[in-house]
This record gives sequence, C-alpha cells and structure tokens, in this order.
Amino acid sequence: MTNRICQLFNITYPIIQAGMIWCSGWKLASAVSNAGGLGIIGAGSMYPEVLREHIQKCKQATPNPFAVNIPLLYPDLEELFTILVEEGVKIVFTSAGNPAKWTSFLKEKGIIVVHVIANLKFALKAQEAGVDAIVAEGFEAGGHNGREETTTLCLIPEIAEAITIPIIAAGGIASGKAMLACFALGAEAVQIGSAFVVSEESSAHPAFKQKVIGAKAGDTALRMKKLVPVRLLTNKFEQEIAVAEAEGASAVELQQLLGRARAKKGMFEGDMEEGELEIGQIASTLHEVQPAAEILMNIWESFLVERDRISNLAI
Ligand SMILES: Cc1cc2nc3c(=O)[nH]c(=O)nc-3n(C[C@H](O)[C@H](O)[C@H](O)COP(=O)(O)O)c2cc1C
Repeated sequence: MTNRICQLFNITYPIIQAGMIWCSGWKLASAVSNAGGLGIIGAGSMYPEVLREHIQKCKQATPNPFAVNIPLLYPDLEELFTILVEEGVKIVFTSAGNPAKWTSFLKEKGIIVVHVIANLKFALKAQEAGVDAIVAEGFEAGGHNGREETTTLCLIPEIAEAITIPIIAAGGIASGKAMLACFALGAEAVQIGSAFVVSEESSAHPAFKQKVIGAKAGDTALRMKKLVPVRLLTNKFEQEIAVAEAEGASAVELQQLLGRARAKKGMFEGDMEEGELEIGQIASTLHEVQPAAEILMNIWESFLVERDRISNLAI
C-alpha cells in the first residue's frame, strides 16, 4: 500500500506498534519493523543509557525504519533527545506534553516528528508546531489518556475535518475491521498498543500477558483523572485508587497512593495485585500470545478482506 504515512516512514503496511513503557523495547520494535510495519521503542521507562542500548540493538536487528517514543512528561528530556540525534534515529513520536518546544529542535536535525494527541486543541497545536503527522488517540486506549474521554470513533472525524497533516488512529484497534473503520473516518494508519503487549517479543511480564488475555469486557477502568488519567486493568491497586477517588482524594493524595515504580512493579515484574497494569478496553478481544509479525499480518490481511466485503455489499 502507498499513502502519505507509508511514504513518510518508508514502510510497507500502515500499521504502527505503539511506544509502551515496560513493553516495547528493541525486540518488539525490530520484530514489527522487520514485518513491514513501524516498530517503536518506548523510551518512557528507560534511563538515557538504557535507551541508547535499545536503539543500538534495534539498528542491528532490523535494516528497516523504526521510531522512538518520548513522553514529554519525564525528566532527562535533553539527554534523551541528544541520544536520539547521536544515534541517528530518524523518526520520533512525542506524547504527553506540549509539542511546541521539541518539534523545531528535532526538525532542524532532519528527524520526522509525530505527536500524540487526544483532542482537537492539541491536534491544531501540533500541526502549528510543524509535526509531520499526529496520532489521534481515543479514550479506549491503554495507558495515559485524554481528560475529555473522547472515543476514537468521535475523535478521528473531528480532527480529520480540521487538519491537513496525516492522522494515525489509536485506541481500541486490534483487528482489520477496526482498522478499516478508522480509515473510513479519515485516518491513514493505525497505532496499536494493547494487542502488541501480548506479543511474544513484548517485554511485558508473562503474568501480565496472561492477565490481559483473561480480561473480559469491563475489566479496565480510567483512573487518576486528577493526576494524569490512565486506563488500567482492575486489580487491588486499581480498587484502592477507585475508593480514594470516590472519597474525593486530591492529586497529591493520588500521587502518594501511586508512589514510585508502580508500572514497573506490575507490567515488568509481574505483581498482579500491587502493580499498575496499563491496558486498553480492546484487551477483552485478545486471546493468545503470538509473534508480533503474526499479529501485524493478521490485522493487515483481515483489513483487505473487510475492505472487499464492504465494497461488495449489495445495495
Ligand atoms: C502498557 C502500555 C504502555 C503505554 N505506554 C505509553 C508510552 O510510554 N507512551 C505513549 O505515548 N503511549 C503509551 N501508551 C499508549 C500507546 O502508545 C497507544 O497509543 C495505545 O495503547 C493505543 O490504544 P490500544 O491500547 O487500544 O491499542 C501505552 C499503552 C499501553 C497499553
């Protein structure tokens, strides 16, 4: 397929594996890039030198383009961006912050910049800042989330009407059907997170992968809206947050409950009760751990089947 996103990244399929803390290191990113999509190293859980190591290993593991995701709310930003430049990273996805500050720095170095947004205001800001494309992420998505709670189905057409740069849809996509729906709404690619958490190459703890596979509808919740809204699997930690929120806990109190390293404890170390387990609503449709390339090709092939089915509908 060729469209603006495939051309921009020089990839075969308009399918992007999301940058995800504790889940998307070089193994997953290179597997997806080798399969013809765009793999992303999630730098949000990496110290600067760990990130450098992942980039170097990814370069060795694939000749194809890959990207790095930098959430703008983390410390060490200057050091992280310097490493990207030194290591010759060609594509950067920024998220969770204001795109104005770092976009021009990256563009001056010839780097392709994509920014993740969850509302129209930030889509316009990102376009104005000069990014090459945006990821529009609905509130079905796993991980940090928009305060407005706009679903992918409502977000994509609203943004598509207002901006001219290409849109990558995210949130609730793990099938060719959902991908086709996003294309119908105006997207030119999809970014997929939760489905790749349960890939063989994801660095998520095996216990977390199994819990995701066992998840049913309604097993995720959006919590910590006073702090940074995040969609996670229900467990003991999530229930403690729910009780505190019902009792009107302040942002400071939520921060204290969250403490440090909760996400690592859950997703990477496998503590299914005390850990923070970020995942999207689509988890209830994920039933097995598969190689990343298989996940990608299943979605792509079913996208083509569904496209033909829809175009052949008798009217
Ligand atoms: C475990 C997990 C960790 C995530 N970490 C990040 C992150 O570090 N940076 C980011 O921009 N988005 C992060 N996200 C959001 C994803 O990049 C992606 O946009 C989202 O998962 C798409 O929705 P889906 O989960 O329904 O596929 C994370 C999502 C998950 C499930």
